[in-house]
Amino acid sequence: MKFKKNILCIGAGYVGGPTMSVIALKCPEYKINVVDINKNRIKEWNSDNLPVFEPGLMEVVKKVRGKNLFFSDDIKNGIKKADIIFVSVNTPTKTFGEGAGMASDLQYWEKTAHEIIKYSERNKIIVEKSTLPVRTAQALERILKSNRKKIKFEVISNPEFLSEGSAIKDLLEPDRILIGSHQTEEGIKSAQEIIDIYTHWIPREKIISTNLWSSELSKLVANAFLAQRISSINSISALCEKTDADITEISYAVGKDSRIGPKFLNAGVGFGGSCFKKDILNLVYIARSYGLEEVADYWEMIVKINQYQERRFVHRIVKEMFNTISEKKIAIFGFAFKANTGDTRESPAIYITKKLLEERAFVSIYDPKAIDNAKIDLKGIDSNVKYEIDPYKAAKNSNAIAILTEWEEFKKLNFKRIYSSMKKPAFIFDGRNILNHKNLYKIGFNVYPLGKTALTHFK
Ligand code: NAD
Ligand code: UGA
Repeated sequence: MKFKKNILCIGAGYVGGPTMSVIALKCPEYKINVVDINKNRIKEWNSDNLPVFEPGLMEVVKKVRGKNLFFSDDIKNGIKKADIIFVSVNTPTKTFGEGAGMASDLQYWEKTAHEIIKYSERNKIIVEKSTLPVRTAQALERILKSNRKKIKFEVISNPEFLSEGSAIKDLLEPDRILIGSHQTEEGIKSAQEIIDIYTHWIPREKIISTNLWSSELSKLVANAFLAQRISSINSISALCEKTDADITEISYAVGKDSRIGPKFLNAGVGFGGSCFKKDILNLVYIARSYGLEEVADYWEMIVKINQYQERRFVHRIVKEMFNTISEKKIAIFGFAFKANTGDTRESPAIYITKKLLEERAFVSIYDPKAIDNAKIDLKGIDSNVKYEIDPYKAAKNSNAIAILTEWEEFKKLNFKRIYSSMKKPAFIFDGRNILNHKNLYKIGFNVYPLGKTALTHFK
């Protein structure tokens, strides 16, 4: 079959794989190639065991793989044949040199740009899909323009807003698509080519066109605003525990104001995931590099409150368990950074488990999808950790259970059975407020919800 256009995506990760699968599904006349330097990842994308767990993803991949969607490690040919290149490589926080711990590490980006120059033989549109510091497109253009082959590259920004665990739904029904370009004739024409992809399934009025810099910065700001809501409610959860106010009632009452809205107001053990912290730190770094100290300090507090919330959770466990958890068994239910994903990047569970181990507790971990990643995260420090595939086994003979991820299945567990298998007094720390606390109390547990009065049998 002759395809209308060749689209390439460099980077077959959490964003590249699902995004291109949905584009392939909705645009059968385009040929989509997804390439990666990680050969093993490509092998997995071509198997029945995809490297990313997302509800609905396998079904989409099965419909298009081998028809108009192809996964390969042949980056050279991929670039050569492409009309449009989406770049979706990772942009982690820099761990060395200037800006370490704050700025984006753009080495993967720059390498990609040089490969594009090396293998290109004609003009192309380059789409920034990764989340990048504002004005990255300028640096990218400078590199791309340095080519001696007289090839023209037009850079477009098209940040991705999907959330893990609901990626397919988010891609099929996004709130908006953002496309930034230079406001030149060439820029607008190239942006239109990207708009043409999305209008295959997304209403035109949901597609926003802006200048390049607004698009790049909007992505960082959107993540910062989302995280800000979580840190705001988490900070109030600490106050609730001191005053007998109830954080769930507060979230509900505050969220009922239509100007505020109900979403992203669930207090918890802190936000995790690969992006919130990195993107906020990046925003902070950029603000500081322009001399905007107050702006930088303001946004940095969101990350600081998140760290405080994780610390607070461990502190409460130790304090309530009579100031020592040494040689006590703590069962951790949930290691993923959120439900419906096996991803544990920046999961609060990593910090919390490490701290419990430092207090010399024995830890057993149950998670329906994230055990393999938990093993990687705790490698070298897990001699007192047991990884369980059965929650009842994880809880057996434990002194306490800590809920760290809001998996639906935890609500359906037989807590009577769990209680009878635990040491007494039995504690439960619900770091996500998903369980029925009154019922647990009736069963005999000492219950510590987050941001609410504890229900205990102690006099
Ligand atoms: P990821 O680590 O899962 O995937 C990135 C992939 O790029 C890896 O497989 C890596 O091997 C590959 N890669 C790196 N350098 C390469 C090169 N030179 N050539 C070919 N492949 C290369 O990352 P991700 O979670 O998909 O995130 C990618 C970007 O999207 C980041 O900027 C992130 O901030 C952004 N983002 C992520 C999410 C999310 O939910 N994970 C959502 C929105 C935006
Ligand atoms: C987030 C954004 O929601 C996406 O729009 C964005 O594209 C993505 O980051 C990104 O740029 O990587 P994601 O990290 O996948 O998506 O998941 P979220 O649903 O945002 O959850 C992030 C963290 O916040 C999780 O640890 C979650 O448990 C926590 N959270 C979320 C709360 O503690 N309370 C809430 O009310 C909501």
